[in-house]
Amino acid sequence: MSFLNEIEPLKLAALAELRAAADLPALEQSKGAWIGPVGKFTALMKQLGSLSKEEKPAAGKLINQAKVEIETVLAERRAELEIKAALPKEPTDFSLPGRRRTLGKLHPLTQVTEDIIRCFRKIGFAVADGPEIEDEYHCFDALNTPADHPARDAQDTFYLGTPARPLLRTHTSSVQIRAMKSRPPPIRIIVPGRVYRRDNADATHNPTFHQIEGLYVDKGVTVSDLKGTVEFVFKQLLGDDVKLRFRPHYFSYTEPSFEIDFSNALVKKLGKDWLEIAGCGMVHPQVFENVGYDPEQWSGWAFGFGIERIAMIRYGINDIRLFYENDARFLKQF
Ligand code: DAH
Repeated sequence: MSFLNEIEPLKLAALAELRAAADLPALEQSKGAWIGPVGKFTALMKQLGSLSKEEKPAAGKLINQAKVEIETVLAERRAELEIKAALPKEPTDFSLPGRRRTLGKLHPLTQVTEDIIRCFRKIGFAVADGPEIEDEYHCFDALNTPADHPARDAQDTFYLGTPARPLLRTHTSSVQIRAMKSRPPPIRIIVPGRVYRRDNADATHNPTFHQIEGLYVDKGVTVSDLKGTVEFVFKQLLGDDVKLRFRPHYFSYTEPSFEIDFSNALVKKLGKDWLEIAGCGMVHPQVFENVGYDPEQWSGWAFGFGIERIAMIRYGINDIRLFYENDARFLKQF
């Protein structure tokens, strides 16, 4: 076979072998076997020197073209195999637990919220959710709060426009209505969420804060169920020395209504005997009528409390604004 006729078959064999390399080491080995210092193709190139003057130019051109082709295929195959090598060997199992967080930690309000949710889950409560941009119906009317009630005053509520009067919910109680309208009784939910009021920021008030609403509707539910539940949760959250006191109060959506005061060593530390911590009561029959539940058949209780308040007691924090400033020196302490 003449020299020129050897180039093409040798090149094709080299290309086929490189393309068939199963992994990167195999590819490197083939590379050496063809174009390494003692490679088969290198050997052919070395023969170029022994050709006659007339043969050299054509043979040199052909051999260089072949070498470029081999190097191109080598680079392509290397890129493919590098991607293959980077892929996981086993199929990904998405049911495995996630990696631990390596950076940062949860905000103290998130920690307290998750603790509260965990307590209520233990006794069969599910978490429900509702929109922060509400309407007057869910926030007030359906909760039996009349149009002339001070809570509806533009001084207290952020209204977003007219005439439909959308607003930023002033409490999570609006979700009671949404939850009851969306499913038949019995119902046992808590609703953590952000609420808005036109308070000027000071040490204990902020225009936005967080509440947890609770709602339990079933047959024969009584105030003692309410007391037992609240006591269980607060003891879990703030310690076994917790004492609770129910004071008569007025809310338009409950009858009777109460405010819950709370006392323990942490409260004493703040220089007080009792701290008001929640509003609650037995769901008003008119509210049941409004959502289509039969008040003769069902009874229930509801409560709402502020999450910041509980976090402040738990951690001995005296300024609510610290929660929103996100100063790392503050956050690192929890
Ligand atoms: N919505 C009340 C507030 O924001 C708290 C509250 C009181 C919620 C009584 C209730 C309840 O569910 O029954 O101050």
